[in-house]
This record gives sequence, C-alpha cells and structure tokens, in this order.
Amino acid sequence: MSPRHTGIVNGHALKLGVFGANCSSGRTYAALPESWQASWDNNVKLATLAEALGLECLVPIARWKGYGGDSNPNGCSFESLAWAAGMLAATQRLAVFCTMHVPLHHPLVAAKQMATVDHIGAGRLGVNIVCGWNEDEFRMFGVSTREHDARYAQGEEWWEIVRRLWAGGEPFDFEGMYYQLSRAEGSPTPYGDSRPLMMNAGSSPAGRQFAMRYSDMHFDGVHTPEASIERIAETKRWAREQGRDIQVWTPVGVVCRPSQREAEDYVRYVVDHADWGALGYLAESHARDAQGRTDAEGVFRRAGSGPIERRVLARGAYCAIGDPDRVAQEFARLQAAGFDGLALNFVDYLAELPYVAQEVLPRLTKLGLRTSPLP
Ligand SMILES: Cc1cc2nc3c(=O)[nH]c(=O)nc-3n(C[C@H](O)[C@H](O)[C@H](O)COP(=O)(O)O)c2cc1C
Repeated sequence: MSPRHTGIVNGHALKLGVFGANCSSGRTYAALPESWQASWDNNVKLATLAEALGLECLVPIARWKGYGGDSNPNGCSFESLAWAAGMLAATQRLAVFCTMHVPLHHPLVAAKQMATVDHIGAGRLGVNIVCGWNEDEFRMFGVSTREHDARYAQGEEWWEIVRRLWAGGEPFDFEGMYYQLSRAEGSPTPYGDSRPLMMNAGSSPAGRQFAMRYSDMHFDGVHTPEASIERIAETKRWAREQGRDIQVWTPVGVVCRPSQREAEDYVRYVVDHADWGALGYLAESHARDAQGRTDAEGVFRRAGSGPIERRVLARGAYCAIGDPDRVAQEFARLQAAGFDGLALNFVDYLAELPYVAQEVLPRLTKLGLRTSPLP
C-alpha cells in the first residue's frame, strides 16, 4: 500500500506546518501572560487559519504530563489522535498528524483508531511514530523505557503490524519479539487505497535508520542549516538506495516583527522570563535518556545545552528571529540546505501567524518557494 500523495508529497518547494499547538505553552519554556492557551476554540481557529493560508499540515506533540517549573509547559494537552479527529472534522484540505507512542498503544487498537480518524478526514491523517524517551512519563504508566535501540526494534514490529492490517487481506498470525498475535484482522482500512503518511523524528543512528527505512518524512535537528547539508543529502541518498523517497523536515521557532530590533527585543523579554524550573527538568530528562549515547546528537542531548533563546522559544529547535526579510531568508536558507518542510511554532500562535502570513509568505512566493494559497 503506497503512502498517499497529498500536498505534502507533491506540493510547494518548501512546505510549512504548525507544530505543538495541542499543548499548553506550545514549545515555549517561559512564564508569560501571552503563553499559548491550548483551548479547543484556539486550536480550531488556528487550524482554520492554517488551512486558509494554504499551509500543509498540523503536527501535535504527544505528552502525558507537563515539565513543571512555574508555567508547567505542556501540562495540559489534548490527546493527539482525538485532537486530530476534531481538527480533521473542522477542516477540508489540511493534513493533520497524530503522534503515537509505540510502547503505550497496542498496534491493533492504534491501527483501527487511526483508520477511523482517517475516514473522518477523508484521507488526510498522518502519523508520527514516537518510540519513547521520557522515562518519567513511562513510569506513570508502569511501563519502563527499553534500552535505546530496542525501542526502534519494537517500533519496526509495531509499524509492520499496522501496515499489514491497513493492507486488508486475510487474518494473519504474528510471532515477533514484542508482539505475538493470533489471527489478526481489522477493518476498515484507511480511507481510499493509500495509507497515511508516516513521520519519525529519531535523531540517533538507530532512530535515523528507522526513519530512512520506513518513514515518508524524517524530522531532524539543526545546529546551522549549512551544517545539515551533508546529513540531509545522506538521509535522502540512503532512503533512495532502499527504493524509497523521503522528505526531511525540521521544527522552527519563529519570532517575526516589523523590525529586527523589535524581534530581538521580544526574544530578550521571553528569555528574561525563562522558566528555569521547567528547562532544568527537561534538560535532566534528556540527559538521563542520552546516558550511554556516544553519537553527536546524543552527546548534545546529554549536555542539555544549546543557545538559550532556542531552548526557551522552541525547546532547542532552530529559530528564525527578525523582520520579515530576515525570517524569509532563514526559511530559504533551510530550504537551500535540503529541508523540504518546516514545522513552525510561535509563543502565541494565533496572534503571530497572521503577520507571518501577511509578510513572510509573499516573500517566499517571490523566492519561488511557495505559490499563493489556493482560492
Ligand atoms: C518534530 C519532533 C516531534 C516529536 N514529537 C514527540 C512527541 O510528540 N512525543 C515524544 O515523546 N517525543 C517526540 N519527539 C522525540 C523523538 O521522537 C525522539 O525520541 C527524539 O528525537 C530522540 O531521538 P532518538 O530516539 O533517535 O534518540 C519529537 C521530536 C521531534 C524532532
């Protein structure tokens, strides 16, 4: 069963999504009066706006508890698949992802739930497969995180089962290391004759291998766009050698204001209100998870470091900060490095996205990276 050809596969040279709006505070780790309120009403308004602007997708975060501190980022979050069902029902063209934690969702249940939601959206659901890293969260479920690479081995079995169910056909037995199934079947299959796009954001060697082998989109981190050029090309080359096409995306925190000075002043104000309790807890959690890792990304995670504005505004992701020219240039720079798409977050999504739409999207059109939104 092939992945479907939505605007994500065949669309603009640079695709854009909205990331993290199902969670309180989104991706920002600061105590601010304007911090994102992840109410249902705000999420529907944002989805409707994103669709009207011709953006490609919404990507949620699957979170089961917050990060503490004064603002408890993500302490309140809509469960991503139930959220995706509502977002799809409220829109007509946008792709909406759900985020599934492999160890927390049995694949037979998940396959049926996702197929159901895909019918609600008439074929616009996508899935982010997350194999897990947050030990505290898992402990809450009474589930222990497996040794790092074994998580991806379980993810492979999980995804194979989901795909076989989605392909329809005869009931099958499955004898794996993590799942043993007898006469497995499930109907309906996803909407139409293709399956939801799958994304994965593993950054470790095992995570990246998983993405290259199975996913349609790999979300990767960025130190600088230019430093990513070789890695992105390699990801695409390795996927192609296995007969697959893969897109590479990255999350980006955006602060766009009429002048560079205003944008930088705003970033300073956000950093001045950083939630050090939450940032400290997050850094400790990452460091615990990265223990024993020797690859570059693991060492970076273990150190819990990175530029402070990136940590506060976007949880360590790359940030585009400045006036509209600068933000458009930063987007173009990421595209030139090989990124196919960017998943954007803002401190206050609904207050800030309209300005980016008004000022940055036309600049991207001029640069040939996007065409105007559909009428
Ligand atoms: C764009 C993006 C979205 C992610 N979404 C989630 C999520 O919703 N829940 C979660 O627990 N982890 C999430 N992660 C973490 C990744 O799935 C993965 O665990 C992390 O990048 C570490 O990779 P590794 O397992 O290869 O070490 C996300 C990462 C990125 C970059």
